[in-house]
Amino acid sequence: MPPRPAPATRASGRLVVMVSGTGSNLAALLAAHEDPAYGARVVAVVADRGGIRALEIARAAGIPTAVVSVKDFEDRAAWDAAVTETVAVFSPDLVVLAGFMKLFGATFLGRFGGRIVNTHPALLPSFPGAHGVRDALAYGVKITGCTVMVVDEGVDTGPILAQAAVPVEPHDDEATLHERIKAVEQVLLVEWVGRITREGLRVEGRHAFVG
Ligand code: GAR
Repeated sequence: MPPRPAPATRASGRLVVMVSGTGSNLAALLAAHEDPAYGARVVAVVADRGGIRALEIARAAGIPTAVVSVKDFEDRAAWDAAVTETVAVFSPDLVVLAGFMKLFGATFLGRFGGRIVNTHPALLPSFPGAHGVRDALAYGVKITGCTVMVVDEGVDTGPILAQAAVPVEPHDDEATLHERIKAVEQVLLVEWVGRITREGLRVEGRHAFVG
């Protein structure tokens, strides 16, 4: 058998985690990084807004934080350039979007493309965007879930790394369903971020692999 090609990306373990909300996925990553065998550690948390629980979680863990808000910049391109520089200060091997609700532009993707992963609370390509849980419920699906993907220039369109299914219960509302998805999502995100770090990330067309 011919030797397998070397991974295109091998993350040596510095994670910058980007957040916009309650930070349950961030908390799961912080719990995992306590174990040296995990191979990755969160070196900074970057948010697009202040006053969120995710930033409190980061500060309580002693992790450096930064906030780069769109409203502080003339336009999206200026914000994109600023958030690129902010993240670059921390020299990440992998950028993890853990509930980060902004789309990046060409500057950020040019700098970090191929080493940005995102988690989404639906089974892509169904229900992309900011309301994946609400949209799945409204559609009436019986099974939804979560997806870990490599970020490209689209809205939740990048190559899929991993998915997990979560059944919709008859009396679910958006909050109850999202809580059950988050419990599964945290495990999936922690597992795949760790695997990327330890084994490397490879993307071939629509297909993403580790190892
Ligand atoms: C997560 O469920 C994540 O998948 C979702 O936001 C939540 C953040 O929760 N992201 C998106 O919808 C992105 N399209 P958390 O702040 O508690 O980790």
